[in-house]
Amino acid sequence: MTTPLELVALSGSLRARSYNTALLRALPELAGDRFTLTLLSIHEFPVFNHDLELDGMPPAVTRVHRAIRESDGLIIGTPEYNHGVPGGLKNAIDWLSRGPMPHGFFGIPTAIVGASDGAFGTTRAQYALRQTLTALNAPTLPAPQVLITHVDQKMDAEGRLTDATTRGVLTHWLAEVERWMRRFPKSERS
Ligand code: FNR
Repeated sequence: MTTPLELVALSGSLRARSYNTALLRALPELAGDRFTLTLLSIHEFPVFNHDLELDGMPPAVTRVHRAIRESDGLIIGTPEYNHGVPGGLKNAIDWLSRGPMPHGFFGIPTAIVGASDGAFGTTRAQYALRQTLTALNAPTLPAPQVLITHVDQKMDAEGRLTDATTRGVLTHWLAEVERWMRRFPKSERS
């Protein structure tokens, strides 16, 4: 039997009842025994400031940096704010892109998923995020793309994904995510 991948996840939303965080929590069940998924917290990241960086990496940043580098791959679940990447997530990426090489994303296979309560399902945020991950040399799953629209109608009050079609789309996507992550094994990472 193939060893399950040890994946980590970042949510672009900090709110307790976030649809995107709930979506990330729903993934392991849909993936069966293909991987474990540890949700990493960016809640304690300060706003990036080069002066702070000169005093050393904040412990919250170091913890997440290490967890990403030790993982087999990263899944980012993000909302869209004003047609872009939420500031908190971009701030976290900026922190994690710093420090000694390899930085937090260099060579880390990554997949993006996003949900919004509108009709565009985070299309624009995902493109902006993809552009940033390209700059950071994080190989990012090109397709299929998962853009979940009207997510408020697809989850129940407890944040359980109830929509059968969306569950099917995610199950298919997760199989591709696994194939993608296995193409970039940790042992071959610089
Ligand atoms: C939004 N929302 C939003 N939705 C969208 O599809 N496109 C957008 O540009 C925006 N812009 C936006 C800006 C700000 C500041 C907020 C707070 C919200 C709505 C957003 O998709 C919705 O609130 C999601 O539910 C947020 O995701 P979480 O927190 O539930 O994961």
